[in-house]
Amino acid sequence: MPNRLIIVSNRLPLAVEINGNTVSSRQASGGLVSAVSAFLGKGGKERFGEVIWAGIPGCDASIWQKLPGRTEEYVFLPIFIEEQLYDEYYNGFSNSLIWPLFHYFPTFVDYNATHFDAYTRVNDHFAQELLNNLNEHDIVWIHDYHLLPLAAILRQRFPSIAIGFFLHIPFPSYELFRVIPKRWQQNILEGLLGADLIGFHTIDYLQHFTSCLETILKIETNGQHIFWKNRTIKIDAFPVSIDFERFNNASDSQAVREIAAEYSNIKGERKMIFSVDRLDYTKGISNRLKGYERFLENNPEYIGNVIFVLTVIPSRDSISRYIERKKMIDEFIGRLNSRFGSIVWQPVIYQYDHLNFEELIALFLTCDVALITPLRDGMNLVAKEFIASRKDGKGVLILSEMAGASKELTEALLINPNDSDEISEMIKKALEMPFQEQKERIYAMQNRIRRYDVVAWATDFLEQLQQIKSVQLEFEIK
Ligand code: G6P
Repeated sequence: MPNRLIIVSNRLPLAVEINGNTVSSRQASGGLVSAVSAFLGKGGKERFGEVIWAGIPGCDASIWQKLPGRTEEYVFLPIFIEEQLYDEYYNGFSNSLIWPLFHYFPTFVDYNATHFDAYTRVNDHFAQELLNNLNEHDIVWIHDYHLLPLAAILRQRFPSIAIGFFLHIPFPSYELFRVIPKRWQQNILEGLLGADLIGFHTIDYLQHFTSCLETILKIETNGQHIFWKNRTIKIDAFPVSIDFERFNNASDSQAVREIAAEYSNIKGERKMIFSVDRLDYTKGISNRLKGYERFLENNPEYIGNVIFVLTVIPSRDSISRYIERKKMIDEFIGRLNSRFGSIVWQPVIYQYDHLNFEELIALFLTCDVALITPLRDGMNLVAKEFIASRKDGKGVLILSEMAGASKELTEALLINPNDSDEISEMIKKALEMPFQEQKERIYAMQNRIRRYDVVAWATDFLEQLQQIKSVQLEFEIK
């Protein structure tokens, strides 16, 4: 009987929507959910006896009962957390300390001992729920920064169970990591060391992690392995990816074509720039708008002849930094549209809403340029999705060198998101790039994404997890 795979993440991969008496759900947004769901949907599930996805459902138990407790690919294990505790763990420690710190926004960090306590308690609660459901043959795959201490708690109870951990955001340099209280540093690092395999998007993040281990915990590593409390732990880089074929074939769908035709009508003869992100200060949306403003100032011939379609997906809207950011973006766009716009033309078309898959692809296919300018981003899957969906070889990607994806998508026009002049120059270059060059760049990047797609990412991770387990076993037998 093949082993079971237990995926553990903060939230279950769905957003629950309540409309009067009707309860429904749609897929949650963000890189983690897209990647793991894509892997399981693409046959990943077949390798296991059963797949269980444990996480917080985002509604209470009475609402949860009205939803199916499973999909074709996995069974849900909902973890219910009391509201106040959840607020301190999710809005507090996870998203007001770890998130800004790991994305190099130290001035946004909120140091709060109650939040740390809540974070620890929620991780304990996850562990308890899992322990009631696990057996020692299960393979546990923990995801992301909400659950950094979890592996160590599970390890105490199941010394030999296979645990993998993957971090979907950057790991910061030691100089940044050291600013938080020492016992929080230790809790995070030792928590991660409960895993057998710890994965990062890039080698840089991995090196930051090992330098923290060496400096803070005085642990020696050889860059690939860590020896800790008689255990060998593997560390490696696994750049997360997408379901390449799904995006590459999406332009064949009738529904996509119909929506794309509508968007093309709106676009008319003009050029179109497009971007889509969750609302987040890390995404560099204001910097992007500044770069676009500079472009319009420097290239007045484009006034009236280009539109920037900016889609922002609502996210974490109970946190003040996010509320502030929304206000800044709204005001910036208002100012830009009134400065350059006219009765017949507005430079920015702004949408603050969720997009479904067909709409997203139709926007990718209609635009001439995708403008992705995060100030820091673990990977950025939108960049890969845009490239994959342009089967026609058309379109140009402008990408921030602060996104993990820039390490792989080297044929994109890479920019520093703090340099408005560079963004402006690259927008011009992108809008005027000959088709032959667009095609060469896009196809080169497509080949790379096709080779290391989301199935390769997850398979690579899970195989390395099995490998390190057998190395540990050999070591124990000797
Ligand atoms: C990023 C994180 C994910 C998170 C997603 C959406 O991609 O790495 O862990 O799920 O953002 O954020 P949210 O707070 O809505 O889950």
